[in-house]
Amino acid sequence: MRTGPGVIQDVRDPVGPELLAAVAGRPVDALVNNAGVGAPGRPLAEVDPDSVLHAVDVNVAGPLRLAQALLPNLLAAPAPLIVNVSSRLGSLGAQAAGEFRGRTTSYAYRIAKAAQNMLTIALAQELAGRVRCWAVHPGSLTTAMGAAGASTPPGAAAARLVRLLDSPDRTSPRFVSLDGPDLPW
Ligand SMILES: NC(=O)c1ccc[n+]([C@@H]2O[C@H](COP(=O)([O-])OP(=O)(O)OC[C@H]3O[C@@H](n4cnc5c(N)ncnc54)[C@H](OP(=O)(O)O)[C@@H]3O)[C@@H](O)[C@H]2O)c1
Repeated sequence: MRTGPGVIQDVRDPVGPELLAAVAGRPVDALVNNAGVGAPGRPLAEVDPDSVLHAVDVNVAGPLRLAQALLPNLLAAPAPLIVNVSSRLGSLGAQAAGEFRGRTTSYAYRIAKAAQNMLTIALAQELAGRVRCWAVHPGSLTTAMGAAGASTPPGAAAARLVRLLDSPDRTSPRFVSLDGPDLPW
């Protein structure tokens, strides 16, 4: 993760003194947890359980570490927001309804994004009335992680996300999609 002054943070590590110093004594209006990893989609017999632990570390424990470390800064802002960049593939409702049947998304990614969504809900419950907590599906992006046929350049999604950060909506939790209506958890 990079902040303005260019701090690099591996989200699997405890939040470091450099990052804490960069925000010390300053309100933080928005924490966007974008870092994410998946794994190659494999049938059960070939799934490496460690790939699940790694994905949960980055996609779930990472945002938890950042939220813990930056909570005082968030609470000092007038209308703070935590955005956890999630995926529609983490929707338990959509997956159980078979909406993505036929895709070869890894166990690691589906499990980690569903767990990240629960983190968003848990944070929203504890921080109700103080910090809004949203899961955000960015769209199908033309990035290293993107699926074949993805069409949204990451810059376009980033611009939509920046506009979302200005939203006065007080709903929390929310599962927002940047390319359509809100999603089912
Ligand atoms: N691509 C899509 O279609 C899509 C769809 C739905 C949701 N998403 C979500 O959108 C987010 C961004 O994905 P992307 O498509 O941009 O994927 P990406 O191109 O693979 O980028 C992943 C980003 O996560 C960072 N990262 C990975 N492990 C990290 C760690 N341990 N500590 C700090 N940073 C780490 C990477 O940093 P380095 O470059 O330094 O490794 C990179 O900036 C992810 O949360 C992903 O799940 C993507």
